[in-house]
Amino acid sequence: MPERRPYIAGNWKMYKLRGQAREYVQELLPLIDGLDLDVGICAPYTCLDVCMEAAKGSKLRIVAQNMHEEDYGPYTGEISAPMLQEIGVPGVLIGHSERRQFCGETDKALQRKLPSALAAGLEPILAVGELEDERENGETERRLRHQVQEAFEDVQADDVRRVVVAYEPVWAIGTGKVATPDQAQEACGFIRALIRDKYGDLAEHVRIQYGGSVNDENARELLSLPDIDGALVGGASLDPAKFARIVEAAL
Ligand code: PGA
Repeated sequence: MPERRPYIAGNWKMYKLRGQAREYVQELLPLIDGLDLDVGICAPYTCLDVCMEAAKGSKLRIVAQNMHEEDYGPYTGEISAPMLQEIGVPGVLIGHSERRQFCGETDKALQRKLPSALAAGLEPILAVGELEDERENGETERRLRHQVQEAFEDVQADDVRRVVVAYEPVWAIGTGKVATPDQAQEACGFIRALIRDKYGDLAEHVRIQYGGSVNDENARELLSLPDIDGALVGGASLDPAKFARIVEAAL
């Protein structure tokens, strides 16, 4: 069984101005120095360059929070994969539930975003997850199957191990209601099984993060589960000391 390197990513959402972002990275770096795992920050577009500058020489990955599926075109206000690649961003979060809920993100668009990110050399973090009423109605697996199958439709086998999947039950995001370890493991195991159906053993290389109210108290247990290889952390990532404690919990 391949070793999957843990990957903890913070998602700042629409928080932090440039000066705050720089200070944050300067505070975080010594706290995670030498730790043997991957750490990333999904930063607003306007903070990407200052964060990368502050993170220079370290392994901290500064990642974007979204991208358009086309490389170029008449899409005012949008940013594409080649634009992110040009400034040296190594990855991009796509399909976050807030973008699905509030910004019209569709599974169809994501189906094009994954290959587009991969073609530009970016490492995508694909977020999937069910709504509260879907879970209550026993539709969690149906929802996850749809999201995962749609998103991976045009991903070639050669690229699949470069994709990170974040399982984020929508009812757990920003609510303080964290999935139980059983719920989280079951969903992440199911996602891996879906990837295995299409790509066979390559699924064992794909990293799956859990996200949704992860904090420095619940992280260790969630991160010890067999199909959970990391975390996508929203609110608790805004403070570097708290985020660093979550990073340590992955070791
Ligand atoms: P949360 O957000 O940790 O604040 O619940 C997670 C996310 O939106 O990725």
